[in-house]
Amino acid sequence: MKIKNICCIGAGYVGGPTMAVIAQKCPEINVTVVDINEERIKAWNDEDVENIPIYEPGLSAVVKEARGRNLFFSTDVDSAIDKADMIFISVNTPTKTYGIGKGMAADLKYIELCARQIARVSKNDKIVVEKSTLPVRTAEALKNILDNTGNGVNYQILSNPEFLAEGTAVDDLMNPDRVLIGGDIDTAEGKEAVDALVDVYAHWVPRERLLTTNVWSSELSKLTANAFLAQRVSSINAMSELCEKTGADVNEVSKAVGMDSRIGSKFLKSSVGFGGSCFQKDILNLVYISKSLGLNEVADYWEQVILMNDHQKRRFAANMVKTLFNTVSGKKIALLGWAFKKDTNDTRESAAIYVADYLLNEQAEIVVYDPKVKPEQIYADLGYLGTRSEQENRSLVSVVNDPYEATKDSHAVAILTEWDEFKQLDWNTIYIDMLKPAFLFDGRRLLDKQTKEEIGFEFYAIGN
Ligand code: UDX
Ligand code: UDX
Repeated sequence: MKIKNICCIGAGYVGGPTMAVIAQKCPEINVTVVDINEERIKAWNDEDVENIPIYEPGLSAVVKEARGRNLFFSTDVDSAIDKADMIFISVNTPTKTYGIGKGMAADLKYIELCARQIARVSKNDKIVVEKSTLPVRTAEALKNILDNTGNGVNYQILSNPEFLAEGTAVDDLMNPDRVLIGGDIDTAEGKEAVDALVDVYAHWVPRERLLTTNVWSSELSKLTANAFLAQRVSSINAMSELCEKTGADVNEVSKAVGMDSRIGSKFLKSSVGFGGSCFQKDILNLVYISKSLGLNEVADYWEQVILMNDHQKRRFAANMVKTLFNTVSGKKIALLGWAFKKDTNDTRESAAIYVADYLLNEQAEIVVYDPKVKPEQIYADLGYLGTRSEQENRSLVSVVNDPYEATKDSHAVAILTEWDEFKQLDWNTIYIDMLKPAFLFDGRRLLDKQTKEEIGFEFYAIGN
């Protein structure tokens, strides 16, 4: 079976870049990305490709090449579903904020809505691909809805988890370590569907990196990969606290440990805590599933990764307050960076949100500078926590678009995202314009300790 028309529901951080790359690499396949959010679709269609709604290095060039040729963005979900042979579901699956599993389980309401819409519209057989990260066995639920509410057409459900990391999404898509495709490989129809998706990726990914498994293995592998990666960050962060108490330097420890080829050097950078839409959500999911199956030890084991991460964020903020003579009330504090990592404008679960909230509870006055995050997003993130009113947040937090303006007359600066441009700042000037003693809290270990001390900062970096 050859795929001619692909539809992707959800034009977000995952659906947008993934479909742009598929369209670029497969010029004979028509790819339509649909979303219920009109603003977002409008932005994807903006004449100036620099205005697309997601910032990812290299993405606008890919969109520019394919858009209008075989890549389309639309709000007409029904007609895109109708035309497609293959439908990707890339809608968001946030942690539930209500009911059973609140704060832990993934909210699958958008997935279910998509399934019902597909079932209502489809008039011929479809392959439905889960791209969103989902709890194990979601495919079963999807199939159930499709088979029981549909028009009697046949569906094959595939799981094709995304492993792209934000900030390097285009490169991760172009050169993936592996692409995982889970399907009903024991039946001829299932195998045919898996092969159809393999053929799409084989346009640019070497065959030996295309891994096919059963659906459940694929779904669980995604959660496992993210849990392992997050665990490494929590492990090194746990060591960072020990380093601070003992005079060891966490960078040196990380390097020494990472050179052991059995361990490897990646994901061993200590930080103010991991963020992003996936790590916490996926681990909470794993914990929830384990608990539901009565596997309490397994659940507790993985939950500790989250508890350590929460501890690290709190510890960083508490350390700021303690260092600033136990009070930040009325003090101006500059936060450099709000995104959860560099090279993205995504702020979901960013450590900066929690550090800011902690400092605001201590009545600090906060000024934020981030090269890519818009002020409205910052207020929305704080609002989402619900700690104080919108009005209070707006009166205590200001957002500026110049790092020197953010730091001028401040008591302290905290680096919360590792944006490259922060390394290039004129730290001498920043120091001169700050109130003395001037404190620099480096939550990303971005700056070199010696130079900062030469300038005169009271310097604190995680892990030394
Ligand atoms: C992804 C993944 O798909 C999710 O599993 C992962 O764990 C988090 O990241 P992402 O692309 O980052 O989602 O989410 P987001 O940027 O919020 O995009 C989802 C899009 O789906 C939004 O634009 C939203 O408007 C759209 N959507 C949501 C629909 O079109 N229909 C719906 O019913 C729900
Ligand atoms: C992650 C997975 O890497 C990706 O495969 C999956 O598909 C989605 O989730 P993402 O959340 O976009 O990707 O970014 P990632 O690079 O994994 O970083 C997550 C968080 O961990 C960031 O806040 C980052 O700053 C932090 N981190 C990462 C560290 O603190 N130290 C490290 O050594 C690495």
